[in-house]
Amino acid sequence: MGRTERILVADDDAAVRALLRTLLVRAGYDVVETASGDAALAVVTSRRAVDLLLLDVRMPGHDGIAVTRRVRANPATALLPIILVTGLGALEDKIAGLDAGATDFLTKPFEAPELLARIRAALRTKAAIDRLESAQGVLVALANAVEAKDPTTEHHCDRVARLAVGLARSVGLDAEAIEAVGYGAALHDIGKIGISEAILRKPGPLTDLEWSAMRGHPATGARIVAPLRLGAFVGPIVRAHHERWDGAGYPDGLRGEAIPTGARIVSIVDAFDAMTHVRPYRAGLPLEQALDEIRREAGRQFDPGLSEIFLAQHATLAAAAGEVTAASFTGGLYAPPGVN
Ligand SMILES: [Fe+2]
Repeated sequence: MGRTERILVADDDAAVRALLRTLLVRAGYDVVETASGDAALAVVTSRRAVDLLLLDVRMPGHDGIAVTRRVRANPATALLPIILVTGLGALEDKIAGLDAGATDFLTKPFEAPELLARIRAALRTKAAIDRLESAQGVLVALANAVEAKDPTTEHHCDRVARLAVGLARSVGLDAEAIEAVGYGAALHDIGKIGISEAILRKPGPLTDLEWSAMRGHPATGARIVAPLRLGAFVGPIVRAHHERWDGAGYPDGLRGEAIPTGARIVSIVDAFDAMTHVRPYRAGLPLEQALDEIRREAGRQFDPGLSEIFLAQHATLAAAAGEVTAASFTGGLYAPPGVN
């Protein structure tokens, strides 16, 4: 989008690097060069924007395949296009590269038109993925806007997302489910966008009519997140975040394990965060009291098994929540307020 695309070239052979640089700069790209896989990893993780990696397979230290594996394993860089440069007939390298998650290969000696065509193809795919991601970014911005309607809940969604991801990890959910929990938690109250601030900020008890407006927010939220790439996972979490283990919640009155795991996780951490921070209708509770409340409600409001894990690990989870970076649970898609 106007910005010159930047390609990271990693090769221990200075002559090859110089050749690639000349070709790529002539084709209009920005080039960053490194002479080793370790230096390439340092650039990629330094938050310096790189759009594509062109890696020699054979390099001392972390070779191209090891770098590919590392880049794929980091949610913040997992979707970066990676082209591996292999020697002629290096079938084993190609198989290992594919297993590691390489996007494409280039065989030495290569022709400039082929190199540029492979780069254009990989960048087109990345541009499509970026557009998808920015759609998710819009929703996160919306969630932040909802939070802004009620200043007393400032950073609530952000904290809940971090705690929820921590709990999802300790329960052993897989990477995709953890990502969905992160989004579900960040966006859980997005349906409140349709509720007036007079109701959201009302210090006293709500009237029946106001309550019914409030109780509509999970279903509204689920409709809003439906178009997300992860919509099939995130929607049910948003819809069910006010369900109760004993079946007395809303909107569907689901009971026990019929409630999606992600929603049971969000329900606990949402309540915990709400209890420990000031709300319009009451002051924040001391930590011990909030934990007691979760203990008391385990098996009633909350999943007893998840509550037990949360209670046993709340200190670690709270500490770890501070370490979860904006990118680490959503493939770089989620930015808490004030970041990016
Ligand atoms: Fe809610």
